[in-house]
Amino acid sequence: MCGIVAYVGNQTARGILLEGLKRLEYRGYDSSGIAILNGASAYLVKSVGKVEALEQRVSQEGPEGVAGIAHTRWATHGKPTEANAHPHTDCSGRFFLVHNGIIENYLALRKRLSSSGHAFRSETDTEVLAHLIESHYSGDLEAAVRQALMGVQGTFGIAVMHSAHPNQIIVARRGSPIVLGVGKDESLAASDVTALAKHTEQVVYLEDNEVARLEPGQFWITTLDNRAVRREATVLEGGPEAIDRGPFPHFMLKEIFEQPEAVENALRGRLNHAEGVAKLGGLESVLDPLRQARHLIIISCGTSYYAGLYARYVFETLTDLTVETELASEFRYRKLNLRQNTVVLAISQSGETADTLAALREAKRKGALVLGLVNVVGSTIARETHAGVYSHAGIEIGVASTKSFVSQLTILILMALLLGRGRDLSFEEGESILRDLEKIPEQIREVLEQSDRIHELATRYCQAQHFLYIGRKYQYAIALEGALKLKEIAYIHSEGYAAGEMKHGPIALIDPSFPTLALAPEHGSYDKVVSNIQEIRAREGRIIAVTSWGNTRLAPLVDDLIEVPHTRGLLAPLLTVVPLQLFAYHCAVLRGCDVDKPRNLAKSVTVE
Ligand code: G6P
Repeated sequence: MCGIVAYVGNQTARGILLEGLKRLEYRGYDSSGIAILNGASAYLVKSVGKVEALEQRVSQEGPEGVAGIAHTRWATHGKPTEANAHPHTDCSGRFFLVHNGIIENYLALRKRLSSSGHAFRSETDTEVLAHLIESHYSGDLEAAVRQALMGVQGTFGIAVMHSAHPNQIIVARRGSPIVLGVGKDESLAASDVTALAKHTEQVVYLEDNEVARLEPGQFWITTLDNRAVRREATVLEGGPEAIDRGPFPHFMLKEIFEQPEAVENALRGRLNHAEGVAKLGGLESVLDPLRQARHLIIISCGTSYYAGLYARYVFETLTDLTVETELASEFRYRKLNLRQNTVVLAISQSGETADTLAALREAKRKGALVLGLVNVVGSTIARETHAGVYSHAGIEIGVASTKSFVSQLTILILMALLLGRGRDLSFEEGESILRDLEKIPEQIREVLEQSDRIHELATRYCQAQHFLYIGRKYQYAIALEGALKLKEIAYIHSEGYAAGEMKHGPIALIDPSFPTLALAPEHGSYDKVVSNIQEIRAREGRIIAVTSWGNTRLAPLVDDLIEVPHTRGLLAPLLTVVPLQLFAYHCAVLRGCDVDKPRNLAKSVTVE
């Protein structure tokens, strides 16, 4: 989740780099740094805190030079200190390197490099890359980078400079994005296209295991094993917002497809396998009161409220807490009789939702410890809570929340694990959940591959006037979220219901024109959901069921089946929500709706 910008051209680099960093600050915010080459002389400055602090220093010192790299950090290995901030250098102080990602074999590499005389100055995994490249360097920077990366396990997006090559920057990627920008007599690279938007309309997305050499106005891409790659630049149109959409027709679709990365970002640096627990730096200051906590009240609105509903089951499963989930707009006006040792958790993507903010202020007034789970860094809710965790889902532009929802679910699981392991949750159980969680990004990718098939389903169902969504336990919140997506963007009346409640009312509505979407992965309450499906079928209702791979038993009972990979029941919502998002999206497009800006809705609701 760090941000990288690189520039080599004919203009003074510092302003371009700092501007790019500010646009990338949502990717990391605890420290930043910049290196600029002016011929053979180098300028390097790092600073703890926001980019603003770095900017002040660099503006005062006014370094000249037309080539540079810059970085804003989100710490994984090592605290946010100047020594750990990027760019990192080698022993000679001639290499400069910025990195996004995690080098998994850094300890082994560091040991090897130390024993051959390399001296390390930071606690980071990144610094080994600078020394490793140095160890391979014999005059050709690009070759040294390529050789070094061949020995690296893990993920990286990097930019590297060497003071003997002041007109060159080498970038490479595996797992962490790098995009190139090509202008007249200048070349740029960044971890996000927003950082390039002002300077060029020509961008090239680097693929995994590719290296690019940038010189002013020119670039050459090769694979890590040195095969030349030809890739034309894509021309951007329509200003910075459209630029971000990449090849996707809508932000919502782009963000649905970013969900594997959103989960990876939520997990990055937060899994402690040795102890079967999650590491959440933002909660460290309140670990003691959290250990004493007896009651948890989760407050939020909209999609974030459904994340809270899901979390109730998760916390109840993994901890001995009594858990309530409340709509913030109701909670704020209740006469609160908070018991001792009550913790209140506010969930909000924007961190600005008025009701959630008012509810958390009320809880604070009543003496509760108030935590936040927020996406937007530095937002009001993030600032006003006693402690909290950022979801790091990245900027979400589509009004209908998607990637921030899966990100919230992921972090709620980590929070519950942290609290559970401080109580009676066993190491084996904690560790096995961590292992299953790590598989989720890949499993979401497998679900995303079904987008065309879900589009085909949407063509058959999108004219329905009404829809019922049903699910039980962990899937109950997903039924509500699926129904919300369909009404928000496709304007189809849809109701989410606990499957068991269906017979107490909604079943009266069922007829062949009133389809049901049933969440039925093969877990605990599967048989009960199947009974509910039978009841709907007996009333000639059409049914789409979401179930586990290869569950053909359900096929004769339903009209259409969507299958998702196997995981434990607790984690299944991270997979089952994806086809529901895609279904709503495709229905909305087929019905000619403005997907990214649905009528009457706003992304951030700052009124009561
Ligand atoms: C608005 C948005 C929803 C969001 C809700 C809560 O209604 O359109 O997508 O779920 O606000 O927002 P928050 O930022 O607090 O999660």
